Amino acid sequence: MARMSATETPQAAPRILSGMQPTSDSLHLGNYLGALVNWVKLQDEFDAYYFVADLHALTVPTDPAVLRDRTRKTAAQFIAGGVDPERSALFCQSHVTEHAELGWVMNCLTGFGEASRMTQFKDKTAKGQNANVGLFTYPMLMAADILMYDAAYVPVGEDQRQHLEITRDLAERFNTRFGEGGLVVPEPYIVKGSAKIQDLQDPTSKMSKTGSSPKGLIDLMQDPAKIAKNIRSAVTDTEAEVRYDVENKPGVSNLLVIHSVLSGTRIEELERAFAGRGYGDLKKEVADVVVDALTPFQKRMAELLDDPAELDRILASGADRARVVAQATMARVRDLVGLVPAAR
Ligand code: TRP
Repeated sequence: MARMSATETPQAAPRILSGMQPTSDSLHLGNYLGALVNWVKLQDEFDAYYFVADLHALTVPTDPAVLRDRTRKTAAQFIAGGVDPERSALFCQSHVTEHAELGWVMNCLTGFGEASRMTQFKDKTAKGQNANVGLFTYPMLMAADILMYDAAYVPVGEDQRQHLEITRDLAERFNTRFGEGGLVVPEPYIVKGSAKIQDLQDPTSKMSKTGSSPKGLIDLMQDPAKIAKNIRSAVTDTEAEVRYDVENKPGVSNLLVIHSVLSGTRIEELERAFAGRGYGDLKKEVADVVVDALTPFQKRMAELLDDPAELDRILASGADRARVVAQATMARVRDLVGLVPAAR
């Protein structure tokens, strides 16, 4: 009788897993404060697996050299942002080939209608994106990523909730069909109170690579002068009071949030400090706080990108760690679904 591999390797901490696609040259402040900062915190409490979802990135046609470059840059940004490859397994999805294999098993457990109801696919195709079958089966590969590692929790943003739900459904279906104890059913870990950063130009929508204009974004790898300029031209309102009020003052509130999370100063304190002062002062100080926070990040990035061989070594050793778990899961899955083992 196959058993969960989570019980085979004795572990002190429950396992968590998360990934990001290498779809741009630079994360933005929203990715950083909304996701990466949490990943970094969670390393203390959990046995963490973090990866660059390069197979998922293939669902959007990308120049091969660009994809390679972005994959390394994304991994480097995890490290520069504080993911410690000594503690967390940090790897590239494609380096652990079991992901694609388990993805296939998940495809064969998913109903066509069920996959057709996934909102991300519907949204993207509705916007006229010329979809390939990979985009359609994206959620099943993501389910494989998660189920491969017996992850107890998956820290993701609200936009990934439906993917988590299908992952749970697939794990339960697998266990019903092939035997209890086959796969661990994960819980979403939607971190409460994690900072939501809004578009500087359109502060009622969230900062996003695809939705925001260049002036609405703060990229982690941007030139500090450019960052300061974008912050100075952030949209505010016609009042003159620095006050946190998301409903009526989304732009000012967004600037206060950015300041507060990066400087560690409470919003009420900032409101007090800026009483009687104008938005110009606020913007100037926010720009300083952001640039101060990003300077060491950018310095570390420069070092990492300067030595790609070392970065590749870090990723290779992360993949070695991940593969140990992945191979155990796949052996169990192959056996449970009825694939004949190759004789040696
Ligand atoms: N779909 C996720 C995103 O776009 C990335 C991702 C792929 C992921 N596989 C994952 C996240 C597994 C968490 C767990 O953000």
